[in-house]
Amino acid sequence: MAEQEDVIELAKRRGFFFGANGAYGGVAGFYTYGPNGAAVKDNLESAWRDRFTVRQGNMEIEAPTIMPEAVFEASGHLDGFDDMLVECPECGESHRADHLIEDNTHIEEAESLPISEVEELIREHDLRCPTCDAALSGEPVEDFNLMFETSIGPGSGQPGYMRPETAQGIFVEFPRLKEYARNRLPFGVTQIGPAYRNEISPRKGIIRVREFTQAELETFIDPEEDEPPLHEVEDVEVTLYPADEQEDEDGEAYTTTVGDAVDEGVIGSDWVGYYLGVAQEWYERVGVDMDRFRFRQHLPGELAHYAADCWDAESEVGAARSAARSSSGDDEEPRDEGDWIEITGFAYRSDYDLSKHAEHSGESFTVFKQYDEPKTVERATVDPDMATLGPEFGGDAGAVAEALQTLAERDPDAFDEAEVEVEVDGETHTVDSDVANFSVEEVTENGEHITPHVVEPSFGVDRIVYTVIEHAYRTDEVDGEERTYLALDPEMAATDAAVFPLVSNDDRLLDLADEVTDDLRAAGLSVEYDDSGSIGRRYRRQDEVGTPFCVTVDRDGIEGDGPDTVTVRERDSARQVRVPVSEVADEIAALLDP
Ligand code: GAP
Repeated sequence: MAEQEDVIELAKRRGFFFGANGAYGGVAGFYTYGPNGAAVKDNLESAWRDRFTVRQGNMEIEAPTIMPEAVFEASGHLDGFDDMLVECPECGESHRADHLIEDNTHIEEAESLPISEVEELIREHDLRCPTCDAALSGEPVEDFNLMFETSIGPGSGQPGYMRPETAQGIFVEFPRLKEYARNRLPFGVTQIGPAYRNEISPRKGIIRVREFTQAELETFIDPEEDEPPLHEVEDVEVTLYPADEQEDEDGEAYTTTVGDAVDEGVIGSDWVGYYLGVAQEWYERVGVDMDRFRFRQHLPGELAHYAADCWDAESEVGAARSAARSSSGDDEEPRDEGDWIEITGFAYRSDYDLSKHAEHSGESFTVFKQYDEPKTVERATVDPDMATLGPEFGGDAGAVAEALQTLAERDPDAFDEAEVEVEVDGETHTVDSDVANFSVEEVTENGEHITPHVVEPSFGVDRIVYTVIEHAYRTDEVDGEERTYLALDPEMAATDAAVFPLVSNDDRLLDLADEVTDDLRAAGLSVEYDDSGSIGRRYRRQDEVGTPFCVTVDRDGIEGDGPDTVTVRERDSARQVRVPVSEVADEIAALLDP
């Protein structure tokens, strides 16, 4: 397994990614993708768009990245999007308290523990600052909100936040998006774009950064009627690590089919099961090593504030020699086993988000569900003038009446009791059933307004880019020399082919190299032309970038009576074959896209 240091070093050397703002000393958690990295990321996003937008028949949108405070008040991020922070009294470095516990004890998923317990564990295990080794026992642990706050407009402006997930940009536009979907469920909306989180301790490389790219799909469903096309993926094999296996000392991940996992209730939602199957095939397509990949279910205490059930796709990546979170305790010792990182979350978000936005905005976040046949139903109502009936409700009387009406529609039996309790703005009001003047009448209805539920696969593009590069990282020996190469799937590779004139002082070779380059580009391939350095070095450079084919124009190919030829070298085997110049573009295009 490649070590993260080696991959990060190659990424920097070959223009995949590197710490941003280096000229000013850099700021942790921000990375720039160089030309090769930007191309791989772009390829990955295109493959995602192809599978999750185009082939699923979903709509793609692009929403702003800064949103007003009200959005995050409604979504729960303002109150609940926190990590636990502990600051070192000596060096002032901030650390994630839950990570310190996970790294130094056998406790997993410490983020789900209450702060008081985390403080107790820090004391009990005498945990120390990873930077300067000062004792942290006795230091208060506090909730730190991960959103970047900003101010919209001049002066003191209006508070705004950089979105911490692309999802909210989709949810807030639901009232309009449902129109584009002609008010019919199910429908899906995707978005690929940046998200921002002020991570307490970003990791080296692009695994935990403060600005990253998400590719998210929000599927809006009627939970009572809509079924996913599960048959399409029921035979797909997946490696699952369910919550009960994690809680069992001897538990482990195992391989099964999506169909069996759903039938046996291991995956509780057909929709989540369906997306795990679709995603499994997609990860294989983009080059994630399936021996270092699994789906892990969230433990109950680990669920995000909006999630009813959640599975993570996780990839295993090489442990960093000097990572802050090395659990070996010895930073210099590379470990055999890598780290499992979350690359995608699959959440059943229920109607949480749409209901919250409806409640906070006053807009309608429902769709009208037309019945096949009109239905005669019993409609329960409370007296809307209840406000005039009792001074005890004060200014809240209207709100209390409204809450009672909602309750009447949901649970008419509640009115069988002498007193009815409703909660308004966190306060419980007790109302005499008679005062509510509750009545039931029969009405004919053509349909009803329902709040859709949301199923969400949320992909972290940067972590998948990292995984794809690391899982493609290989070393071997060619012509007695050690080489490093990236065995990237051609769909992911930054460059399709490189063209080398063997020498740069022969006009005939240079002209022919130009001609081959033009032919390849005309066939739609991305080509790098390189005439500098020894041919061996040029091959090594392309191997490290993961270019699938190198075309070399040499004198042997232009001497003699036959048609001009060039050599085509395949990256992984380093084998070369001679191909007529007139056929080279077609041949490489066919090999790239068999
Ligand atoms: N809308 C749901 C959501 O945002 P999440 O699990 O918080 O869920 C989704 O994030 C994915 O985004 C994660 O699986 C991960 O791949 C990626 N991600 C989250 N925080 C990240 C960070 N600081 N740096 C890089 N990727 C991150």
